[in-house]
Amino acid sequence: MNLSVSPRLLACCGFIQPNARVADIGCDHGYLGIYLLKNKIASSVIAADVNEGPLQSAIRNAEKFGVREQMTFYLSDGFRNIPRDFDVAVCAGMGADTMISILDAAPWLKDSRYGLILQCQSKTPMLRQYLSEKGWYIYKELVIRDGKFLYTVMEVHWKPGFPLTCGECYFPPAIQENPSQEGLEYYRWVKNGLIKIINGRGPTADPVIVKALQELEELKHDPDLAWLKEER
Ligand SMILES: C[S@@+](CC[C@H](N)C(=O)[O-])C[C@H]1O[C@@H](n2cnc3c(N)ncnc32)[C@H](O)[C@@H]1O
Repeated sequence: MNLSVSPRLLACCGFIQPNARVADIGCDHGYLGIYLLKNKIASSVIAADVNEGPLQSAIRNAEKFGVREQMTFYLSDGFRNIPRDFDVAVCAGMGADTMISILDAAPWLKDSRYGLILQCQSKTPMLRQYLSEKGWYIYKELVIRDGKFLYTVMEVHWKPGFPLTCGECYFPPAIQENPSQEGLEYYRWVKNGLIKIINGRGPTADPVIVKALQELEELKHDPDLAWLKEER
């Protein structure tokens, strides 16, 4: 039986190295892990969810698609109840607040042996700021389109000493390094969001937001980032 997954989840799967042992935190339906096993990308998958209903649905789906034996299932708030023998953890479809509380509760993840694949649904600049302040480094971040929405997926490793500026928290170097139409649209979308906030606040606008917008405007003049020149 074939499993088709959304472009958003497919993009997360694209970050997984062959034979990786994967932990899917907040697995819900379990499709990410099932896809990785059915396509012989991951060697094993830990599927965890804080809620019983989604976890049961992941177990049912794993049985339906014939990969139940290669998956282990845990009712777990973040990493709390899961074993630590995995290579890469995926957190997808959650907001920055949830991801930050999950990462804060698992300081043992701060180890170069682990990789994180994060697909954040809201307040992504806040997540990037948190990661950069705590010593997590965004190696790669891709902007992808799923229906009418743009999402980003980032690959993160423990590597302290590379803080992001406020502008980079909105449009990080890891995206700047990968020219794409989606990246350009994301750049415009982020910039327009900042302009709206500033216009709404007038002279009382948060100086951090003003500085972030200034940084983003300056990127257009960087010859290495010619792809950000707006043709309109
Ligand atoms: C919107 S779904 C995303 C499912 C899937 N990862 C995806 O991207 O399609 C979010 C899932 O995360 C689970 N979740 C929320 N907070 C969690 C936490 N602290 N620990 C583990 N799972 C959590 C929810 O129960 C839900 O099943």
